[in-house]
Amino acid sequence: MKIPLDRQAKQPIYLQIRDRIHHLIHTGHLPPNSQLPSIRALAQTTQVNKLTVIEAYSVLEADGLVHAKQGAGYFINAPSSTADLTADSAADSTANAKSSHNAHPLPSAQSLPPVRSTFNPTQQVILPTGGIQSFPDIYRATIAAHNRPDVVDFGIGFPQPLDVDDFQRVARRAMKDSGIFFRPGDPKGDIELRRQISQLLMQQGLDLSPDNLIVTSGSMQALALLADHFITADGYTIVEAPTYHGFLSILQQRDAPMIGIPMTPKGMNLTLLEQYLESHRPKLIYTISTLHNPTGITTGVGHRRKLLSLAQQYDCLIVEDNAYEPLSFETTPPPIKAFDTTDQVIYVGTFSKTLMPGLRVGYIAITGEQNTALTERKLLHDFHISNASQAIVKEYLASGHYRRRLKRLHKTHRERRDHMLMLIARYFPPAVTWTVPEGGTFLWIQLPDTLSVAEVGAAAAAQKVLLGSGAAFFPSQQGYPAFRLNFSLPPQETERGIKILGSILHRMSK
Ligand SMILES: Cc1ncc(COP(=O)(O)O)c(C=O)c1O
Repeated sequence: MKIPLDRQAKQPIYLQIRDRIHHLIHTGHLPPNSQLPSIRALAQTTQVNKLTVIEAYSVLEADGLVHAKQGAGYFINAPSSTADLTADSAADSTANAKSSHNAHPLPSAQSLPPVRSTFNPTQQVILPTGGIQSFPDIYRATIAAHNRPDVVDFGIGFPQPLDVDDFQRVARRAMKDSGIFFRPGDPKGDIELRRQISQLLMQQGLDLSPDNLIVTSGSMQALALLADHFITADGYTIVEAPTYHGFLSILQQRDAPMIGIPMTPKGMNLTLLEQYLESHRPKLIYTISTLHNPTGITTGVGHRRKLLSLAQQYDCLIVEDNAYEPLSFETTPPPIKAFDTTDQVIYVGTFSKTLMPGLRVGYIAITGEQNTALTERKLLHDFHISNASQAIVKEYLASGHYRRRLKRLHKTHRERRDHMLMLIARYFPPAVTWTVPEGGTFLWIQLPDTLSVAEVGAAAAAQKVLLGSGAAFFPSQQGYPAFRLNFSLPPQETERGIKILGSILHRMSK
């Protein structure tokens, strides 16, 4: 096969190869099941590096156009749903090969015990009078644990650094134009990046223009900016109980009064929400609608619509934090923002959970008149976020490596979730229950009332196993006993940690 290349063109060579093969597939010159040239052969005929061909084939694979058969090469997919399956299993074999250095057999679906997913806690509405700001301490503990390889840190809030072999190449390409570091940046963020994000969001059902977006330093900055802009000391904020402890600390630091509405298996309790909207007239509702942190619950369309209509009825803003949506194994309902016709919902997203937390790239989608004022607030805060980070995320999105990465994360996370479920079913006492999230990185473990999470956490820490203590996720720490476990750790670490936790829980249950 000969592929004409334009070496002067701006478009990278591997994308030119991808586009040419794409064209040959669509015009029928490469029929289903036919084989692509070997990596070595194509590298020779096109006079390029083998890595360039590997990259082009990987991107075609992520696009669902080709699949790899181990040891045999790459083949064109049939244009049916089976093609996706084949592509998945090919990606699977690559991912398996990559993680095989772990040399740890993961359970097959058949070997899994019946999975109990239980979420039925007794939890009252929380109206805290004083705040306990726990997040800075938790963050410091995370940093300390990170430098100790002998510690099993189930408390960590980010996925593990999986399959980052593409990073060097992506980053090198992103850094080609040193001019980006000398130009003043747009406070809303790079326009091309915002175009890419608006396209990503369109796939979720959100019809937003790049102008509606403000790129932020992670979604944490997005939440802090929104709190600065919209939350005052005399207006209540509604949060789910439990919820993301980072946002609780943002509120506590501002002495902002809050109301914790209990989570049910379907999401925030809407009957209680309505009562408190009526009695306290809050200004803002913070919700994590998909793969909620920490419970892993995803709300349905009915819940989303009802929440929005209540917010509209009581003229209350919604901040919808969708940090984990890209990590869902299943198709998720459109975000609440997709149903919003009154600029009632502000949407927040991040690349921390899918690419790397250290890039610090997140964003706010805000429609309506507050967009300009919030952009100015952002400008006065830090002008704009690092051009280097924005360029790297842009390159991930443009090259197809982002999609490829998501596919791999889904596969690995599903395996690791199932592995952890199997272990906790085996080692935890029967009175302990847990949720089974369809994605994300956390299981939420609920303990019988007779057990103290603080004592379990201290005993585990003494054996170098760290938990996300459930107390931190409730306003004023007024919750039922529970803890959060990150299931994305390497399997042998998970096994070691769960065995230790299991024996502590058995001992304390006696
Ligand atoms: C729900 C939620 N929102 C926001 C964040 C902040 O993440 P980042 O600032 O890295 O985007 C986190 C981090 O754990 C989170 O769980």
